[in-house]
Amino acid sequence: MPVAGAAYTLVVTERNGCPMTSLRILLAAGLGVLLAGGCTGQSREAAPVVADVIVIGAGIAGLSAALEAAAEGGRVLVIEANSVGGGHAVMAGGLALVGTPLQHARGYEDSVERAVEDLMAWSPDADRDWVTRYLRASGPKVHDWLAGFGVRFAFILDTPQHTVPRFHFTPRGAVNVVLPLLEAALESPEISFLWSHEASRLLTERGRVTGVEAQSLRDGRLIQLRAPAVIVATGGAQGDLGEVARVWREDVPLPGQMFAGGGAFADGAGHRLAEAAGAYLGRLEWQTIFTNGIPDPRDPAGRRGLLALNPAGIWVNAAGERFINEAGPSKDADRAVLEMTPAMHWLVFDQAGLKELRIRDAIWLTDEVLEREVLGNPALTHRADTLDGLEALAGLPPASLQRTVARYNEQLAAGRDADFSRFGGPRSDPFARPLLEPPFFALARFPLTRKSNGGIAVDAFARAVDSEGRPVPGLYAAGEVTGVAGINGSASGGEGTYLGPAVYMGRLSGRAAMLDQRPTRASSATTAAVDEPVPHYGEALDPVTLSRLVEQPRRGYWHFGKVHQIVLEQRRDCAACHTADWPAAPPAGPAAMLAQLPSCTQCH
Ligand SMILES: Cc1cc2nc3c(=O)[nH]c(=O)nc-3n(C[C@H](O)[C@H](O)[C@H](O)COP(=O)(O)OP(=O)(O)OC[C@H]3O[C@@H](n4cnc5c(N)ncnc54)[C@H](O)[C@@H]3O)c2cc1C
Ligand code: HEC
Ligand code: HEC
Repeated sequence: MPVAGAAYTLVVTERNGCPMTSLRILLAAGLGVLLAGGCTGQSREAAPVVADVIVIGAGIAGLSAALEAAAEGGRVLVIEANSVGGGHAVMAGGLALVGTPLQHARGYEDSVERAVEDLMAWSPDADRDWVTRYLRASGPKVHDWLAGFGVRFAFILDTPQHTVPRFHFTPRGAVNVVLPLLEAALESPEISFLWSHEASRLLTERGRVTGVEAQSLRDGRLIQLRAPAVIVATGGAQGDLGEVARVWREDVPLPGQMFAGGGAFADGAGHRLAEAAGAYLGRLEWQTIFTNGIPDPRDPAGRRGLLALNPAGIWVNAAGERFINEAGPSKDADRAVLEMTPAMHWLVFDQAGLKELRIRDAIWLTDEVLEREVLGNPALTHRADTLDGLEALAGLPPASLQRTVARYNEQLAAGRDADFSRFGGPRSDPFARPLLEPPFFALARFPLTRKSNGGIAVDAFARAVDSEGRPVPGLYAAGEVTGVAGINGSASGGEGTYLGPAVYMGRLSGRAAMLDQRPTRASSATTAAVDEPVPHYGEALDPVTLSRLVEQPRRGYWHFGKVHQIVLEQRRDCAACHTADWPAAPPAGPAAMLAQLPSCTQCH
């Protein structure tokens, strides 16, 4: 049985008379060191072949790729920088799907043709071929395939991008799409995981990708692993403000202040790895940047942002004036704010509207923390008993806010928004309400990075291609690292058009990675368990030691730190999650990783 999780697993296989070597030997040999291959066709210095396919990244695209390659008979190794799987999807919402049983049950008549026109109308510069291919596949190859893993959709949101409702949600969002995939991958004897390891380089031989060099984020050791196919599924670059700014598009000014709203490991590493191996990177400047971000009060570096919404509020610019239909498509608002100088605006609401305030991406937020760290924090929120007072705190021109709110309230009473058609028109906003009741609140909102719409160029089989469109042998890419193949165009904040395509592309890449090597594939594969321990904190920790560890920011323990900061703050009992099956210790294999999964939805 292979062993995954913190312990290393590997597969010893016979291939063309060449034994694949276990990771244990690699580790014992001091890592970074390459074993003599001794088989025909291999250079003397080559590291051992450890799998048929190596997938980099255990997000929704990488897990889909791994499951598909395994279904095609492949042995798969997944390398993941984080200590847990799922990627961004654990924080995300729904999927755009066409022709599903739920649509039928609700009486929504949909078709691929109509969906293609909707997506192209929303993002005219999207890649029509990929849009069509994805939408055609979204029922049979995404919805039905997910259903096979137990994913059940419960409702469909009606949103502006789709003229027929097709934005599908499970009762909890995408976490319940990706966790069943993670569970199936952990259960699969064909799939092994190397957690807390960051891919740092692709190995190449004569223009062909032959493996991956990765570094342990827990002990710094380097390791080289070979496989005839490598799938890059590392997500976008939206966690790295420097990278977002570096590729910023020329026709929109770069905001003076911006916050990161992408994953901690979404730093564009996959782009650099693939480019160095010969792949072409296209449309990197295509990025979805939201403009409803506030600084994350818990990030001492001041780089991370949270998403703040209040459908009962109004938005005003630096002149204290409304500038847009607040309930209109978010992509229009994003564009309008990015073109303002400075690129920011104020979200203004009153005491009655306070209950509609939503702060997203902050798992640690309770009502008490909201009051202390957001509403009561003058760096984030201005609060005053009069509009005059609020205006002064926010530095808006005298009497501007008063005038704006008076006009807004009058128009609401008259039933028509003559300025921006928020109400009184065809899509009248049910949340619009007068601002009357003190205290009044103003939150400054800034650009928030979100989604990469460009990246590694791929062909129709998710094979990475060079600048001439020729596949780079042995290299595949799926998900946001490709900008989901350009199906969202340059700037769209598409509704469900990242997760579904990530599943589809993951499957395509997993299949292509196996089919491309079929003629040369050897037949019998055997597995051997490896029980190499990973350095860890030891047995159950007392709260004092735990809090000391949590306070040390170390990348290899990033998620451990996030989790246990909440555990300590909310004084949760260790036994609420850790059990005899899953002791408070590093997971020793897939069984221990599987035992963790029920805890995930306590927070996600
Ligand atoms: C808050 C939020 C809400 C969203 N809501 C929606 C929605 O409702 N609908 C929708 O369709 N989309 C949504 N999206 C977008 C969607 O979640 C992502 O596009 C999608 O999850 C990307 O999946 P992925 O597998 O391509 O990449 P990721 O989920 O980013 O996974 C990449 C994985 O690779 C790992 N990794 C990165 N670099 C390395 C390396 N060098 N070595 C090893 N591992 C590495 C990362 O740790 C990560 O686990 C949302 C995004 C965010 C941030
Ligand atoms: C709400 C659920 C929850 C509670 C309560 C909880 N933990 Fe954890 N614990 C987790 C999760 C999830 C992980 C896996 C985190 C990771 O590696 O990313 C984990 C992992 C660990 C690890 C392994 C770290 C490693 O080296 O990989 C230790 C040790 C640990 N917890 C100690 C504790 C102690 C001590 C307590 C009680 C004070 C506690 N935990 C309470 C969810 C919880
Ligand atoms: C006690 C709460 C808690 C538990 C339990 C928990 N997490 Fe998390 N998780 C967090 C927090 C907090 C973050 C960081 C969110 C942020 O600030 O970006 C996070 C982030 C993540 C991310 C990175 C998301 C991204 O945007 O890239 C993944 C993946 C993840 N968790 C998976 C899991 C899995 C799988 C489990 C179950 C084994 C789990 N988590 C259990 C609190 C928790």
